[in-house]
Amino acid sequence: METKLIKISEDNFSATIKQAGRILKNGGLVAFPTETVYGLGGDALDKEASKKIYAAKGRPSDNPLIVHIADFSDIYAITKDMDERAKKLSDAFWPGPLTMILNKSERVPYETTGGLDTVAVRMPDNGTALALIKAAGGYIAAPSANTSGRPSPTRAERVYEDLNGKIPMILDGGAVGIGIESTIIDLSGDEPLILRPGYITPEMLKEVIGDVKFDPALTEAKGDAAPKAPGMKYRHYAPKAQLILVRGDQKKVTEKIVSLIDEAHADGKKVGILCATESQSDYKAEIVESLGKRGDEEEIARNLFEKLREFDEKEVDIIYSECFEETGLGIAVMNRMIKAAGHQILDI
Ligand code: TXA
Ligand code: MG
Repeated sequence: METKLIKISEDNFSATIKQAGRILKNGGLVAFPTETVYGLGGDALDKEASKKIYAAKGRPSDNPLIVHIADFSDIYAITKDMDERAKKLSDAFWPGPLTMILNKSERVPYETTGGLDTVAVRMPDNGTALALIKAAGGYIAAPSANTSGRPSPTRAERVYEDLNGKIPMILDGGAVGIGIESTIIDLSGDEPLILRPGYITPEMLKEVIGDVKFDPALTEAKGDAAPKAPGMKYRHYAPKAQLILVRGDQKKVTEKIVSLIDEAHADGKKVGILCATESQSDYKAEIVESLGKRGDEEEIARNLFEKLREFDEKEVDIIYSECFEETGLGIAVMNRMIKAAGHQILDI
């Protein structure tokens, strides 16, 4: 299959959206930008389209998809038992990087929800995405547009790298603004639970609906407990080379990484380093990549997946990384880094 990569511009916007909407209405797939990461879209109410999404990504079919909507009123057709908490959260954060898990209506096929009786819903904050959802009939199921297991794409070229030949169209809206996937909150039970941390932090959620807790599986040191979001149990975001995180007092972390570089070089290995801008000049390795200034979690989040993918192109044997503060957006950053490292952390 030929994959068209179309750069969205003011001139081609409406014609392109029309064309892409037609593909979706006919059961085909289109990748598109959102404010978090690129998504791989199919008609959420068409079970054959959902099956195509799993096939294109190589994704296990028990891992449910997020349904993207463009109008709040469209939520009623796909959910039941909508509650006040969902309304308040949508007023506060939609369109935006928050996904809510609610009980599903019969209109949503089990192929879309990975066999679950709940459905994940989100309204993305991106003009192309919102126009495309409307053109497709209101409901686009979209996981991140990467091959299963790889870092989520933050630019259209990365989608092309993973899905060229597998889908008919990719809409290029440039680099995304946030860089990590939406926060997921489960509202299907009495107690709201954060299943995946993201740009919308626990503090922001608490201001709107009171106390929220993390899915206990997220805070498990080794990740042995089964997470409530099926997707969180898979190894994910991983670069090809082994990634090891070094955590502790910053001065000691730097000393430790410097000695680990020496050891790896003695073994003839090529080394990659991920670090904050402030410590970039402390390391002498084949590739030393800065994610951003320490404390600037927004910049670090925006760069993380792209930097992980760059290591694959440069073919290092091992990657050592500094850790970042686990507060605010840093919680989401460290959640992705720990998963990318397959929970390999050296605490010093
Ligand atoms: O920012 C995002 O959310 C991006 C953009 C494209 O919108 N999408 C995204 O989708 O990250 P995906 O498929 O890569 O991640 C969805 C996560 C998975 O971990 C999945 O298991 C979980 O959401 N999920 C979906 N439906 C669920 C449900 N009914 N119950 C629990 N977890 C669910
Ligand atoms: Mg994903």
